[in-house]
Amino acid sequence: MASLTVRQLDDTLKRLLRLRAARHGRSMEDEVRVILRDAAQESHPGGSGTEQSQAALPGRKTSRPTSEPASEDAPRVLLIIGGGIAAYKSLDLIRRLQERGAHLRCVLTAAAQHFVTPLAVGALTGERAFADLFDPQSEFDVGHIRLARDCDLVVVAPATADLLAKMAGGHADDLATAVLLATDKPILIAPAMNPGMWTAKATARNLAQLTADGVRVVGPNSGEMAERGEAGLGRMAEPLEIVAAAQSILRRGGSLAGQRVVVTSGPTHEPIDPVRYIANRSSGKQGHAIAAAAAAAGAEVTLVSGPVNLPDPPGVSVVKVETARQMFDAVEAAFPADVAIFAAAVADWRSQGTSASKIKKQLGHTPTLTLTENPDILSSIAQRTSGRPRLVIGFAAETNDVIANAQAKLRKKGCDWIVANDVSAESGVMGGDTNTVHLVTASGVESWQPQAKDQVARSLIERVAAALDGRQR
Ligand code: C5P
Repeated sequence: MASLTVRQLDDTLKRLLRLRAARHGRSMEDEVRVILRDAAQESHPGGSGTEQSQAALPGRKTSRPTSEPASEDAPRVLLIIGGGIAAYKSLDLIRRLQERGAHLRCVLTAAAQHFVTPLAVGALTGERAFADLFDPQSEFDVGHIRLARDCDLVVVAPATADLLAKMAGGHADDLATAVLLATDKPILIAPAMNPGMWTAKATARNLAQLTADGVRVVGPNSGEMAERGEAGLGRMAEPLEIVAAAQSILRRGGSLAGQRVVVTSGPTHEPIDPVRYIANRSSGKQGHAIAAAAAAAGAEVTLVSGPVNLPDPPGVSVVKVETARQMFDAVEAAFPADVAIFAAAVADWRSQGTSASKIKKQLGHTPTLTLTENPDILSSIAQRTSGRPRLVIGFAAETNDVIANAQAKLRKKGCDWIVANDVSAESGVMGGDTNTVHLVTASGVESWQPQAKDQVARSLIERVAAALDGRQR
């Protein structure tokens, strides 16, 4: 799929595609995405995770053509456009949000106006774009406090390194930062910057501050940069990914609205020396899918993830860790929570003492690795006497006697449910996209059909919502 480009189509198809894209006001690439999505939906009705992004944003019942005005109950999104090359994608983002029924208002930073003009933004939104904190007309007319409050969600896209630093520091020296400081609404940022700037310690500090302040993050993605020859992590999330993240924040009436959920996912890496570590084959796919499903159901989700090769799920606060002890600290820092789901494959042991330098190979000498036990995060949280989440769920990855072992684990760990699965090599679960699970609770065992990990996640989240409602336990 990644190798199919519009350029490879024959001329007639290209012309038809161009006409169709122009008729719908989309780029040719986006038109192709829509066609493929529609085809996928026709062949697979009923929906999957990515299809959420085509539905109307919460607050409206149907999507509408972008030319129609938004209705009274349309969700109001304030889009702050920062000054980076990815600002061109913000124009597309405006259209994608409007298609899903949102009412858009936009603020441009001074730097953003080097990339997109207030005229283009105003033409798309149907109202003037705001840019100046000291503009007497807009202060009289709307004012930065009203801009900050008259919305349901503030989206910052692209969120440049400079804008992140200003937000983290509480600056308010232009309209965008004044609005961001004044708002009491949820904020979603879509960072976009050069990979070197993204990995800079200052950016990591600022991002940690912002996530601690409750700011949600989508992206960045990995790929080529606008600068020739530059590639890495730092590309702004695609407009449809930002839309999905916005949807999960705006989904006020979801079955987990108002609930705080903590999820662990992925493996842990336990260092032996600076280059070697103990790891396992967990991909993090199931844990990440659970975090995404909980966010899609309206929960406020913190995902504590070990090293994985997966994008951050939209609308989720992600805390990245390496070791079991770091995972434990991050879980505790994310509390209080209503629900904790421990899907990570935490290493049971770590090397006792880590060598500061690489252990050298010596002829005739095999070093001995002495292991020591890691803290059991699940047990320790499940057995808390105060501040225990209402529902604590563990996973049991077993290679034999799956159900009997899971039942023993439920009792030993003191959790409420165990999701048990067979991870023997023949099952293909580790790293695969499907899973066959058994839900083990105090009242019995339910064996679910083999299904996609996304679907397992959605079913589990439905059961969680029912349990919190007291409908099922
Ligand atoms: O004991 P075992 O590793 O089989 O238990 C699996 C469950 O316990 C999973 O839910 C896993 O996330 C959790 N666990 C944990 N901390 C550990 C080991 C396992 O939270 N140190």
